[in-house]
Amino acid sequence: MRLGVLASGTGSILRSILEAQIPVAMVLTDRACRAVDVADEAGIPVEIVARDSWGPGFDRDAYTHRVADALGRHHIDVVAMAGFMTVLGPEVFEGFPGRILNTHPALLPDFKGAHAVRDALAAGVTVTGTTVHVATPAVDEGPVLAQEQVSVLSDDTEDSLHERIKAVERRLYPKTISAFLTALDERQTKR
Ligand code: GRF
Repeated sequence: MRLGVLASGTGSILRSILEAQIPVAMVLTDRACRAVDVADEAGIPVEIVARDSWGPGFDRDAYTHRVADALGRHHIDVVAMAGFMTVLGPEVFEGFPGRILNTHPALLPDFKGAHAVRDALAAGVTVTGTTVHVATPAVDEGPVLAQEQVSVLSDDTEDSLHERIKAVERRLYPKTISAFLTALDERQTKR
């Protein structure tokens, strides 16, 4: 199984996947970001599929097509989103049915979206957490594979809380990806 990882940020979740010895065939980002350096240091091929627009003129389907094309060129079988901040259109989900995973910094279905940690703090919850799920075209939906709680402390800022959640993601996501890849391999050998 050839795993492709999609990232936009610091690449700390990507790094945790690599440290878990999960083979990564390529890393794709939507911008120049530290995740590119993490991939470069590990000698993993990188595709920067840069967005040409961040405004209302953004052509999501055309962008998704470029992503699908890059994944195809690298013969990717399974995709793990690791802090990828562009919402992709249907083409990529049709190309990888049930084979795109995501890690989200909240206990889905609570606090979907790009500001999950901020929203959890604003809501005043005492417990939030992280969710690994199979991604679908509907953002932050799809079957949940794993969840773990994280307590909110009274003096938490968005950064401090996110960092504690990410510490859990760096353990839970690689473990869940591994189990998912093993199950997929076993299903294929039985065919
Ligand atoms: C993680 O919290 C992930 O769930 C969210 O973005 C963060 C990525 O962290 N979608 P990093 O850039 O890998 O450090």
